[in-house]
Amino acid sequence: MDVSAAIKGRRSVRSYKDQAVENDKIEKVLEAGRLSPSANNRQEWKFIVVKNAETKKKLARAAMNQSFIGRAPVVLVACATESKAVMTCGHPTYAIDLSIAFAYMLLQAYELGLGTCWIGAFREDEVKSVLGVPTNARVVALSPLGYPATDTVARSRKSLDEIACLEMYR
Ligand SMILES: Cc1cc2nc3c(=O)[nH]c(=O)nc-3n(C[C@H](O)[C@H](O)[C@H](O)COP(=O)(O)O)c2cc1C
Repeated sequence: MDVSAAIKGRRSVRSYKDQAVENDKIEKVLEAGRLSPSANNRQEWKFIVVKNAETKKKLARAAMNQSFIGRAPVVLVACATESKAVMTCGHPTYAIDLSIAFAYMLLQAYELGLGTCWIGAFREDEVKSVLGVPTNARVVALSPLGYPATDTVARSRKSLDEIACLEMYR
């Protein structure tokens, strides 16, 4: 599968088969995060793979009771090991680094036939306490990971005209 096919085909999946995800596939997904770029190549990240049923349920509760998270065979949690660095442009480095890495991982998962769903609605303190994440670290995103149980429909997108312009901001 080429990159554009993955970008076009990926959808958020919120229903998963009761089927384990092979460890070599999980490793490939993690490898996509490991290889992704980061500011100054700092790689200040830690990706937690959660398979324990109780822990997954606790994560689903911390994610505003989005129960489908707890029903996936795996939940991935993307953490920044450091959150103080700010780029010259004023944006916090960790949020951008982790978002790039997690996006790569979700696309890699899609290529492997696995479904994911970026989860941004969660109580960070609760996720930290469930997983023993240190106070100086940040939890940026979660995603269930598993084989999709149902087909998903493509969500609409704005047209290129609406989101791109030539030379100047219009
Ligand atoms: C930063 C971010 C946060 C999101 N948070 C959630 C979430 O908490 N729960 C959820 O079900 N989907 C969440 N989504 C998924 C979006 O709803 C989804 O990507 C969007 O509707 C487009 O659909 P698609 O991913 O199928 O193309 C999130 C996506 C992003 C990028």
